[in-house]
Amino acid sequence: MSVRPIRLFGDPVLRTPAVPVVDFDRELRRLVQDLTDTMLDAPGSGLAAPQLGVSLRVFTYHVDDEVGHLVNPTLELSEQTQDGDEGCLSIPGLVFPCSRAQEVVACGFDQYGEPARIEGSDLLARCMQHETDHLDGVLFVDRLDAQTRRAAMGAIRSASWAGEPGPVVKQSPHPMFGKGM
Ligand code: NI
Repeated sequence: MSVRPIRLFGDPVLRTPAVPVVDFDRELRRLVQDLTDTMLDAPGSGLAAPQLGVSLRVFTYHVDDEVGHLVNPTLELSEQTQDGDEGCLSIPGLVFPCSRAQEVVACGFDQYGEPARIEGSDLLARCMQHETDHLDGVLFVDRLDAQTRRAAMGAIRSASWAGEPGPVVKQSPHPMFGKGM
């Protein structure tokens, strides 16, 4: 059991597009396990690697008693949309109505590098869109209509967890004269 801290709105890693997984190794399987443990502990319907500070294209989901994961996902979205409330473990306590595609076919790989395909509708479809957005540095508040988005940003600014100090970036004390790499 390895539950790791979930990064919060404002952390730059949540705005960084994640890179595709190349090595389907033990480290990847450890990441999938940590994502799963952290998601189930939260509890949440899904969790993407950037939320654990890891900029790789991997997410886990837990919808309708089914726990799974997908690596390097690509999505095919239905034209039909669904309306419903959505939230995010990186924006705790806040839920807003967010329009999404009603059905999704997600293709990618499992943690062993085997091709994987997940077909979903309703919450599972919503979850796969939300998590794949995380891998592109997109958060669900970006998908809200303008008025709801304003309300969401106001609520985020006044949330108890907002404005927590980000990671400290230390500057090298050595002058590099523009030659540092
Ligand atoms: Ni989220």
